[in-house]
Amino acid sequence: MTNQKELWDAEYLSKGLPTSYRNEPSRGALVLVEFLKRKNIPISGKLLDLGCGAGRNGVYFARLGFEVYGMDNSENALQQFRERIEASGMHDRIKLFGKSISERFPFPDRYFDIEFDGIAFCHLTENKDREIFKKELLRVLKHSGYFLSYVLAKDYGNISKLQDENGIYTNSVNKTMGKLYSEGELIEFFSPEFECISSENIKKEEVIHGEKFLGSLIVAIFQKK
Ligand SMILES: C[S@@+](CC[C@H](N)C(=O)[O-])C[C@H]1O[C@@H](n2cnc3c(N)ncnc32)[C@H](O)[C@@H]1O
Repeated sequence: MTNQKELWDAEYLSKGLPTSYRNEPSRGALVLVEFLKRKNIPISGKLLDLGCGAGRNGVYFARLGFEVYGMDNSENALQQFRERIEASGMHDRIKLFGKSISERFPFPDRYFDIEFDGIAFCHLTENKDREIFKKELLRVLKHSGYFLSYVLAKDYGNISKLQDENGIYTNSVNKTMGKLYSEGELIEFFSPEFECISSENIKKEEVIHGEKFLGSLIVAIFQKK
């Protein structure tokens, strides 16, 4: 199997996916901030942006007042994130870590107030990697801290027809792999260690590699028990 990190590096050069070229924060990031505001939870403290990519969400979170820690193993993504930090002047609010999200996270226990996964967890196709991710999420999150996961759903446009019986697919253009989720499957995976506070299936029109289709994503907010 080709190395996924190399495929993501190539993706950030060709910029075929919206996550590789968009400047606006993702819907998942907006849902997280709306949730925190509604609950009167401070928009401050340490936020871990898992699979942060080129930084569209990280810069948004930093501008709002978070101290952002971005983790991604694509060097090209992080280079583009550095350029965004430079352009936005958010140097003292964002730190970047070139690390895999399926290995031990380089942070102490109970370090973060909030954890954000913007379509990164769903690219872990091996169960052992997902289990390490969950274990590390729990370890570095403060007691009662919040975690938002934003993943591609089973009926996601053109990708749905590529999945096998476990939801695993290979993107036909850039060859990156991922797993499609049902709402129930996502919630079950993070239970019982996390309590699901809310979940929603978001449908939106997408244009990827010139093809227009209906995207379907799940956004779920969890609280560490
Ligand atoms: C669809 S992109 C999303 C990027 C960003 N969160 C956003 O919303 O713009 C998925 C990201 O996950 C990263 N990724 C995939 N597998 C990873 C792993 N094992 N460790 C760290 N990052 C990973 C990729 O490099 C890529 O930046």
